[in-house]
Amino acid sequence: MSISVAIDGPSGAGKSTLARRLAAEMGFVYVDTGAMYRSIGLYALESGTDPHDAAGVEALLPQIRLEARPVPGGQQMLLNGRDVTEQVRREEVGMAASAVSALPAVRAFLLEKQRQMAASQNVLMDGRDIGTVVLPGATVKIFLTAAPQARALRRQKELEAKGQARPYSEVLADVMQRDEQDSTRASAPLRQAEDAVRLDTTYLNFEESFVRLREIICRRAGLL
Ligand code: DC
Repeated sequence: MSISVAIDGPSGAGKSTLARRLAAEMGFVYVDTGAMYRSIGLYALESGTDPHDAAGVEALLPQIRLEARPVPGGQQMLLNGRDVTEQVRREEVGMAASAVSALPAVRAFLLEKQRQMAASQNVLMDGRDIGTVVLPGATVKIFLTAAPQARALRRQKELEAKGQARPYSEVLADVMQRDEQDSTRASAPLRQAEDAVRLDTTYLNFEESFVRLREIICRRAGLL
């Protein structure tokens, strides 16, 4: 039986950085489901389709072939054979991803793919609905969160480091808009699974969050 760890939470809580490093340390495959939604968002933008246009986006799905390849230290995202790992990190692609992820057809399109990835290997899967919808029987479920202000501050620093500095107020507004979209949509909204362990990283730095997360996962998965 393979072990699956579901890590859900709002954007900017540190899920992907923490999960990536933890997966490497534990020898698990890291699955970034957000990158899959981002790839569909990117495809919609590139084909001139409004990411909010349900019928338009649904019509694109048969043209989309996604492959999430495990690579050392993370995941390589292929969209119709093209490496889009870096491109999908862009701000506007994140917004498009949030829009397409509200569409039930898009969620259905990705569901089986994500389940298959967890069926045959030990995974640490990061997303919004992993513990609630994708892997309801996950070995361990974590809900990783932080106050919107703390997440906006971290995001602002990240952008600055990439040479894409933006005012704090704008970044905070984006964070709050994304939270609102992700948690109020009808289809698989962001919410904590009843059996998930909640970890709030508002007052924790990266190292402290990492140690706490590793401890919870190892204890729950019986790896200690
Ligand atoms: O985690 P992220 O920022 O890369 O995710 C991009 C968008 O995709 C985000 O707005 C929410 C959505 N998403 C989702 O609905 N379900 C998932 N399992 C992962 C991401």
